[in-house]
Amino acid sequence: MPVTDAKTWLAIAALLVVGAPGTRADDEPPDQITAAEMMDDLMYGHGTVGGPFTLNDEAGNQRSDSDFRGKLMIVYFGYTFCPDVCPADLMAITQALDALGAAADGIQPIFITIDPERDSKVLGEYLGAFHKSFVGLTGAPEEIRKVANAYKAFYAKLPPAKNGEYAIDHTGIIYLMGRHGEYLGFMPPQTDAEKLVEVLRKYLAE
Ligand code: NI
Repeated sequence: MPVTDAKTWLAIAALLVVGAPGTRADDEPPDQITAAEMMDDLMYGHGTVGGPFTLNDEAGNQRSDSDFRGKLMIVYFGYTFCPDVCPADLMAITQALDALGAAADGIQPIFITIDPERDSKVLGEYLGAFHKSFVGLTGAPEEIRKVANAYKAFYAKLPPAKNGEYAIDHTGIIYLMGRHGEYLGFMPPQTDAEKLVEVLRKYLAE
């Protein structure tokens, strides 16, 4: 995969060693792909990454991947309560799009919530803090799981605190999809805006 390099593999491999056994909530869905499967598909190009989806945007309108043909898609799975990784990555994407100026019109950034129960009502407001072109997508938990599985995105709810709040263990991978919806590659969490610009410019020019 062209976007990634050896150093990135290591970062992802480290990332996939998430949570020791026993740290997961008991209600972890059985349809979660294993970290090993995900690593295989993302790192070695086995299997497919991405594919068709239909979810709802902040305004409740149905949106499909096919709506965004002709643009590069940046796809990010996260949740609005995420304390650090999601906001940092969304900010880096925002800064990269700002830096690209008018060329950013050729890119559609998409945030798919992995926490629809809490996020569906606040998605629009949350994304208001980031680049104006962001589309936020939500849906039924099982629909989102299906899309995440297709992207080999891992997430699992952690056991809730006493006040009922919970965090979600998840991979903050920045996926880059081509103008026909094809998978181009991924950038690891905490890729800085400068590196994003470099990669995006390359694909915009193709
Ligand atoms: Ni996050």
